[in-house]
Amino acid sequence: MKKNKVLLVANWKMNPDTYEKADKLFQESVHVASQAKKVKTVLCIPYPWLTDFSHKHQKVVAFGGQDASIEQAGSFTGEVSPKMLTSSGVEYVIIGHSERRALGETDILIAQKVIASLKAGLKVILCLGEKSRDDHGEYLMFLREQIINSLGKIQKRYLKKLIIAYEPVWAIGGGDDEAMKPTDLHEISIFIKKILVEMYGQDSGTSIPILYGGSVSPDNAKDLINLGEVQGLLVGHLSLNSKKFSELLKNIE
Ligand code: PGA
Repeated sequence: MKKNKVLLVANWKMNPDTYEKADKLFQESVHVASQAKKVKTVLCIPYPWLTDFSHKHQKVVAFGGQDASIEQAGSFTGEVSPKMLTSSGVEYVIIGHSERRALGETDILIAQKVIASLKAGLKVILCLGEKSRDDHGEYLMFLREQIINSLGKIQKRYLKKLIIAYEPVWAIGGGDDEAMKPTDLHEISIFIKKILVEMYGQDSGTSIPILYGGSVSPDNAKDLINLGEVQGLLVGHLSLNSKKFSELLKNIE
């Protein structure tokens, strides 16, 4: 059986601050990604540059938005619709990132965004993760509810385009030793899979890819994937440094 490629999602967030810097980072990232055979690279770059960049290099990397509206068009100032993304050569979208949840996005809104994006044909990377941990396992209850509520009532036929990114908020934005331990990640990836199986049955539940995000580095990436048993990584600040991004890709390969 053909093994699926590891998914490496680069979340540039609101960076860099000019088109010139973004274009340079983009060219470098494409060069790095073109050398990786076992990794599929998805660049989630700010809206203003998505169409321009996606028309340049669609074959080497895939493109992702960092959010999308629940609407497809209309009087919604400042919003960008899933349909606008698909018609701009964008294949993926991140929904429910903790930085958007911190701005007030609820599980209910996120569930609506997930469905709207799936219906428009996007592959949805749904972000989940607890803010902190406790000794009594309450964070597991939190996570369970977050998964169930953020998924809402997705019809089974859309599950093929769904990806879960587990990003514990306490691990985001740190150094190498602030990422989660791969063995702990393994426990959580099993926990998430179990909930997905309860919701959608064995076959569909186990086929939804799970990614990890939070202080991923060239040093911890391989263990997180192999020992954590996840199908890929979501990388934030490291993806802005093409030298480190290249090291990361080489280590995963
Ligand atoms: P980080 O961010 O890699 O900088 O920790 C990950 C994320 O927020 O998606």
